[in-house]
Amino acid sequence: MIYLLTDCDIRLTKRDEMMRRKILRVLRKRRGGHVSGAELATRLGTSKVAIWKHIQALKKEGYDIDSKLRIGYRLVSAPDLLLPYEVEDGLRTDFIGKEIHHYSRVSSTQEAARELATEGVKEGTVVIAEIQTRGKGRRGREWRSPAGGVYLSVILRPQINPARAPLLTLLAGVAMAKVLRRLYDLKAELKWPNDVMVNDRKICGILTEMAAETESVNHCIVGIGINANVELTHFPPEFRASTTSLKEELGAGVSRVEFVRGLLGEIEQLYIVFKERGPAPILEEWKTLTNTLGALVQVIGQTEVVDGRAVDVDQDGALIIRLAGGSLKRIIAGDLSLRKSPKAP
Ligand code: BTN
Repeated sequence: MIYLLTDCDIRLTKRDEMMRRKILRVLRKRRGGHVSGAELATRLGTSKVAIWKHIQALKKEGYDIDSKLRIGYRLVSAPDLLLPYEVEDGLRTDFIGKEIHHYSRVSSTQEAARELATEGVKEGTVVIAEIQTRGKGRRGREWRSPAGGVYLSVILRPQINPARAPLLTLLAGVAMAKVLRRLYDLKAELKWPNDVMVNDRKICGILTEMAAETESVNHCIVGIGINANVELTHFPPEFRASTTSLKEELGAGVSRVEFVRGLLGEIEQLYIVFKERGPAPILEEWKTLTNTLGALVQVIGQTEVVDGRAVDVDQDGALIIRLAGGSLKRIIAGDLSLRKSPKAP
């Protein structure tokens, strides 16, 4: 059984979710015309009272549905929310996002996903929030999560050595860059290890967390936050020069539902390739989309600061830096800043 959790913790069964999705589908097909309660009930194999109850629930969720006595129901508009029956309808995936848990407000989708993963939910389950009150960034930082952004976590159960988990961050970055390029023609670039940049400003961050034994992964949670329909005034002044959003870049908001469908589709395709053929094809794509290789960089790690030229990423997703003396250094994690634009490595 799947639940949709909202602020007030209303629990919605998969059956109810399916019914609401079907009602919306019929109303949408009528293109602004009315559909009677009796017709809906017959087509969906339920009672008129049950239809009425679902319509009331949909209205509470923000759907504007006109109800006329003896005529029926007409969909006037849908709320701009990433509700499961909005995202799932038209989603062309086999397992990613087939189960979506939606929160209007949650501390962090990573935390909600961790609980679900521990309970044993299926691979591909996605947690989405409209707002996060304690969004998590890398290295204990806060991820600002105002309304209008997209905050989601994907639960994966790859059969890989835990050392390879960082590759999922690169994979998600490739998926994000591809969808930003395909849907909005934005020249999205990947900054190792987890940033997606547009015009040298960060538009998206990725955080991969995992539960693992020494040799095997139990689950990975790939958290993705993108500043979609967000005004830069939501960020503190000191971040504004280095941050951007889709709204800022495109001059108008986007359909977040369409964006999420596109993103989940890209993630699934790449993840299937990753499982079947290993890291090489993902790394190959990552290399075509990165702004990091060939550039002079500084990486601030847990215990050291490394300066040099970024020359490669290895099969675990670690960055290879050529130091001033010519030797190579392998960096697994850290904060990277670009010192100078890329040259041939
Ligand atoms: C970073 O750039 O530091 C990574 C940011 C990751 C943010 C996303 S938003 C969805 C998911 N839930 C969280 O609390 N964090 C990740």
